[in-house]
Amino acid sequence: MEIPTEELVKVLEKRNKQPDTLLQIIDEYGRMFIYYQSAIDEIETKLKIIDRELSNPGTIGRKNVIHQIQTRVKSLESIVKKLERKDLQFSREIVEKELSDVAGIRMICSYIDDIYAVLDSLAAQSDVTVLEIKDYIKNPKPSGYRSLHVILEIPVFFFKETKRIKVELQIRTIAMDFWASLEHGLRYKLETDDPDLSRRLEQTATTISNLENEMLMIRSKIEAQIE
Ligand code: GTP
Ligand code: MG
Repeated sequence: MEIPTEELVKVLEKRNKQPDTLLQIIDEYGRMFIYYQSAIDEIETKLKIIDRELSNPGTIGRKNVIHQIQTRVKSLESIVKKLERKDLQFSREIVEKELSDVAGIRMICSYIDDIYAVLDSLAAQSDVTVLEIKDYIKNPKPSGYRSLHVILEIPVFFFKETKRIKVELQIRTIAMDFWASLEHGLRYKLETDDPDLSRRLEQTATTISNLENEMLMIRSKIEAQIE
């Protein structure tokens, strides 16, 4: 759990929060952190189990169906800032109701067909509820951004209670992740809107998408030779 930054203190001061309120907020975040980190652990384990089975020669038998899993609980500072943008106060109830990306998992797959195969398997599990799917692979963002964003809900069993907790799962391929990471870094630096550079960035997304499809076709040919 991270320690609140000066910037967070400033945001709270702007809202005329007293020091004891700040302590209350930190305490509340500490409890939320346990809930959200636990929900991340549950989903991450489910993904690792699917990956382990798929690596077995008897199933898909391809290593690295899931190339990498990254996780994070949204920092207190980011939560407060996001609520601020929506003109909302901080409380656990409001966070649970209004924010669906406090628990975040990014799963990076090798190939695009793996994305849907893993999601279908996860969604079929009896304790997993899919609340929302935003498919920016079928419908890329104007920036060129591609990824599958899914909001899941799972029950987590604690010492004396069971809580249903939301987790945002972003699924993308290695190629999509390469693009998103670099574009994110560049867009940060791009101070004013530059239509030419934006268009060129968007074109790189198309190039990467073509490259990725070609790799997939080559993989299919090789698999067909083995069978
Ligand atoms: P948020 O308030 O940002 O959560 O908006 P939203 O709920 O509409 O979420 P959206 O589906 O747009 O996804 C937000 C997340 O997707 C961001 O935190 C980024 O990780 C990623 N993302 C969305 N658009 C882009 C983009 O154009 N470039 C990059 N690099 N990442 C993006
Ligand atoms: Mg979001």
